[in-house]
Amino acid sequence: MSSQSHNTVLVTGGAGFIGSHVADALLADGNRVVVIDDLSSGERRRVPDGSDFHQLDIVDRAELDVLVDEVMPSAVFHLAAQSSVTVSVTDPARDCAVNVGGTLNVLQAATRHRAPVVFTSTGGALYGNEAPIPTPEDRLPAPLAPYGASKWAGEAYVKTWSAASGIPHAVCRLGNVYGPRQSPHGEAGVVSIFTHHLFSGLSPKVFGHGKPTRDYIHVSDVVAALRAASGTAGTFNVATGVETDVMAVWSILAEASGSSVEPELAPLRKGELQRSCMDPARALRELGWSAQVPLERGLRETHDALVAEFAASQASPV
Ligand SMILES: NC(=O)c1ccc[n+]([C@@H]2O[C@H](COP(=O)([O-])OP(=O)(O)OC[C@H]3O[C@@H](n4cnc5c(N)ncnc54)[C@H](O)[C@@H]3O)[C@@H](O)[C@H]2O)c1
Repeated sequence: MSSQSHNTVLVTGGAGFIGSHVADALLADGNRVVVIDDLSSGERRRVPDGSDFHQLDIVDRAELDVLVDEVMPSAVFHLAAQSSVTVSVTDPARDCAVNVGGTLNVLQAATRHRAPVVFTSTGGALYGNEAPIPTPEDRLPAPLAPYGASKWAGEAYVKTWSAASGIPHAVCRLGNVYGPRQSPHGEAGVVSIFTHHLFSGLSPKVFGHGKPTRDYIHVSDVVAALRAASGTAGTFNVATGVETDVMAVWSILAEASGSSVEPELAPLRKGELQRSCMDPARALRELGWSAQVPLERGLRETHDALVAEFAASQASPV
């Protein structure tokens, strides 16, 4: 393998929220970064300068194979996904095609170059309502929506390919990720949605009357975990182990904004969990990774970064 290909890293979904931060970090460390994204939910402007961008659908195996064989990556971060629970319900076939078939395509292409893959799965949509809190990785998944089922199936392929090829592919089950660049227009991403409402002076709906809990994790901690997992076979919760209710998140953001907007309390939406929090002990033990950003600081910094983004896009709408 040439020295150039040794430092070439492929990031699928690199025009998305988390993938763009992964690409940033890899570039900062001097890697050559190749980004693949079909821009279905991602944005071209999120792809960092200096990376090599290819608009491509991972479901298209022939096109993906040509590119990967040309690029010859030494590592792959696979974040491209149909990431909406709602879309997975309305179009489960597309959800399956991208999250299962697309993942299989990425695995096969990476395996040809003996490049370890890190696959981003979900914790929140996988463990279900009956799981102990905090939930360890060996809890049998019980997804409530097709999105959780397709991520679980993707995980199975990652593990099977790793066992069969001896290449240490990893599965990272992420908590509720927040941070700069998260879109306020999705169904999830409560930090960005709340910040956008506060910025606009609008009252958001707070489902479950503010009581549902989640394991909120800053995107910089997720990036560090994914990088630590690269080259280690296994399944890892990437979470804080801290349970926070949604009203506490609202309160910190509202205080950061100085706004007096009041939220509208609403019942829990169908299919949403009451509680979600994951045990991150395995990642600490096996990867030496633990979350570093305390929630209050992370929320305040994210609030300020998002407000700057919203103001900039208002000044120059795209
Ligand atoms: N944000 C979270 O809290 C969270 C939690 C658990 C797991 N995840 C997982 O982390 C990964 C990144 O999530 P995100 O929040 O950045 O979502 P995102 O939607 O911002 O990013 C996903 C990216 O994949 C791209 N994509 C979708 N289908 C594609 C296809 N067929 N071919 C190529 N590119 C395609 C999208 O355009 C987008 O840029 C996803 O795999 C998601 O399932 C996210």
